[in-house]
Amino acid sequence: MREWTILGAGALGCTFAALLKAQQQPVSLLLSERHRGHFHPAFEFIALNERHRLVSTHPRFAEQAAGVECLLVMTKAYQVLPALQSLRGLPADTPIILLHNGMGVADEVARAFPHNPLLAGVTSHGALKEGPWQVRHTGKGETWLGPVNEGGKAFAHLQAPLARALGHAAWSEDILSLQHRKLAINAVINPLTACHHIRNGQLHEPRFADVLEQLSEEVHAVLAQLGETETLAQFRRRLNAVIELTATNYSSMHQDLAHRRPTEIDHITGYVLSHAGKLPVPVCRQLYHEVKRLGG
Ligand SMILES: NC(=O)c1ccc[n+]([C@@H]2O[C@H](COP(=O)([O-])OP(=O)(O)OC[C@H]3O[C@@H](n4cnc5c(N)ncnc54)[C@H](OP(=O)(O)O)[C@@H]3O)[C@@H](O)[C@H]2O)c1
Repeated sequence: MREWTILGAGALGCTFAALLKAQQQPVSLLLSERHRGHFHPAFEFIALNERHRLVSTHPRFAEQAAGVECLLVMTKAYQVLPALQSLRGLPADTPIILLHNGMGVADEVARAFPHNPLLAGVTSHGALKEGPWQVRHTGKGETWLGPVNEGGKAFAHLQAPLARALGHAAWSEDILSLQHRKLAINAVINPLTACHHIRNGQLHEPRFADVLEQLSEEVHAVLAQLGETETLAQFRRRLNAVIELTATNYSSMHQDLAHRRPTEIDHITGYVLSHAGKLPVPVCRQLYHEVKRLGG
C-alpha cells in the first residue's frame, strides 16, 4: 500500500491522518520549518464520539520529499504553491492531490509541476484545531476526488482506501464542477459571516434576506457563465440547507479574521470576481474589499 503524505498538518490534515491511521494505512506528515526540533511524536485527536486518542505518524520535512509516494495537500489555498515549491526532490510520478477550499491554485500547481499527476478534491468533513497538536473532528461528510491533468486520470483507485478511512469517498471526472458548487456556497456564507461577525445560522435572520438574495444571484450568475447548470432555485435550496446544517458554526473566514490570520478570500470571492466578466457583482465586490479592509 502506498504511504499517504499529508502536507499541511492542520485541522483537516490531522483529521485525515487520524482516520487513515485508524484503518492501519501508512501516513506521514510533512511539517513546516517551525516544527523542526519540537514536533510531538503524536497529536491528540478527538473523534466525533468524543473519544480522545494519540495518533503517531512519521514526520517528514521539505528536504525529505524524495520518498513521498502520494501527496495530499491540505494547507490553506494561499499556502499551497509556496509549500509545494519548498519541497526538495519530489518524484515526478508522485500524484499531488489538492484538497483546499477556494479555486485558482490548481492551474498554478499544474504549471509549476507539469510532470506530476495532479488531482483535486472536495470534502465536507469538518475539523477544528483546539490547541497545539490537538484536533477535533467536527463533522463527517463526503469526499470527492478527480483529475486536474491527464496524469491524474490514472489515480481513480485512490478513492477506495480513502473511502475505507473516511466513510465516503468517490471519484468524479468532473471535479471542476464539484469545486464550483462548493465555491458558490463558500462565496456566499464566508464573507457575509466574516464581515458581520455572525454564526452561519444568523444569515437566516430577516435583516440578511436582501443581501443573501442578491449575493446568491451574483454568485450563481458567474458560475452559470462558467458553464454550471444548477438553477438559481436549486442553488438557493442547497445554500439554505448548508446554512441550516451549519447554523451554530462560525465559518472559516470568520475564524480567520477573528484570529487575525489571512483568509482565503482571494481564492473564493476573488475567484468569482475574476470570472465575472461583464456581469455586475456589486455585493461580491463590496464584501471582498470589506474583508481586505478588516485584515483578511
Ligand atoms: N477545517 C475544516 O473543517 C475544513 C473543511 C473543508 C475544507 N477545508 C479546507 O482545507 C484547507 C486546510 O484547512 P485547515 O482548517 O486544516 O487549515 P489549518 O488548520 O490552518 O491547516 C493548514 C496547515 O498547513 C500547514 N502549512 C502551511 N504552510 C506549510 C508548509 N510550507 N509546509 C508544511 N505545512 C504547512 C500549516 O502549518 P503552520 O500552522 O505551521 O502554518 C497548518 O498546520 C483550507 O483550504 C480549508 O478551507 C477545511
